[in-house]
Amino acid sequence: MAGSERIFLQAIRRYCAGHGIAVEIRSGGWLIAMRRGATCRFAFGYDIGLNSAIAHRLANDKSAAGEALSLAQVPCVPHHLFLNPSLGVHVAGTAWHDAMLALLAQNPQGVVVKPNEGTSGRAVFKVTNRNELDRAMTEVFSSSLGLVIAPYVEIEDEVRVILLEGRPMIVYRKERPSVTGDGVHTLHELATAAGHGRQLRELEARETKNVLAKGERRILNWRHNLDAGAEPVLMDDGEVRAACVKLAADAASAIGITFASIDVVRVDGAWRVLEINSGVMMEALAKLHPELVHATYDAALDRVFGED
Ligand SMILES: Nc1ncnc2c1ncn2[C@@H]1O[C@H](COP(=O)(O)OP(=O)(O)O)[C@@H](O)[C@H]1O
Ligand SMILES: [Mg+2]
Repeated sequence: MAGSERIFLQAIRRYCAGHGIAVEIRSGGWLIAMRRGATCRFAFGYDIGLNSAIAHRLANDKSAAGEALSLAQVPCVPHHLFLNPSLGVHVAGTAWHDAMLALLAQNPQGVVVKPNEGTSGRAVFKVTNRNELDRAMTEVFSSSLGLVIAPYVEIEDEVRVILLEGRPMIVYRKERPSVTGDGVHTLHELATAAGHGRQLRELEARETKNVLAKGERRILNWRHNLDAGAEPVLMDDGEVRAACVKLAADAASAIGITFASIDVVRVDGAWRVLEINSGVMMEALAKLHPELVHATYDAALDRVFGED
């Protein structure tokens, strides 16, 4: 059904139709075979097939990506890996819970617990005490073999850079949903009126009943995922954009990745890498900037079919 078809798939269909390439779709739309003469290329998930197997694996593994970036001295948020204890003591060891508690103790501002290979902000928890840690751990281990713990950092800005062979194709800031107080309405009323009703789940119920002071800005979700309500805002040329692109290009070069979306964050005024995604997913961005999304996939597919 065209209405529910992924933008990724639509972009591939469009490109292929214009280039005499036959497309066959399998696995409910996740596997795409593109055939021209004797040449057959595959796209899988959001992977268009330009990255080496090792670059893809490093990017998708938050812990390994962090280690590889540290080796290349690219500043990044560290992610400490814990394997699921269901894999057995030979794999997961015995001291994992103490090590988790030690990380929590070393970071009084809190830690973030998430799946090592997660995407879209699913099962990403901020925890500040042992009970929250145990709840988050149980939730992540219920569906993932690997869990990572990162120190919680106060993110001033998060920027996504979509890179193709070191060239920035799209660069945008992620603007989290927020409301500004008027001294009359409660946080609950302001958020509902602004269409951010679903964000109320993220907040303490007690807090939402308070009237927000006039002019006070309240961010409604600590995470920057577009799937969690953040809005992409394209960045203008300038020093900040250039700094983000340089950092993303360094990160891409450190793990040898060709086509990727790289998230960089500003913490205490300094930029560092938060994560690298080897699959370039632009479903939410395409609602606002379809032409940029198509141009980016077209350029990547030109590379796939050797049409530079
Ligand atoms: N260590 C951290 N400190 C503060 N915020 C974080 C941290 N890790 C993740 N976040 C927030 O959570 C969001 C999702 O985390 P991320 O590592 O990108 O996982 P995913 O792959 O699920 O998107 C980020 O966009 C960021 O806003
Ligand atoms: Mg992310």
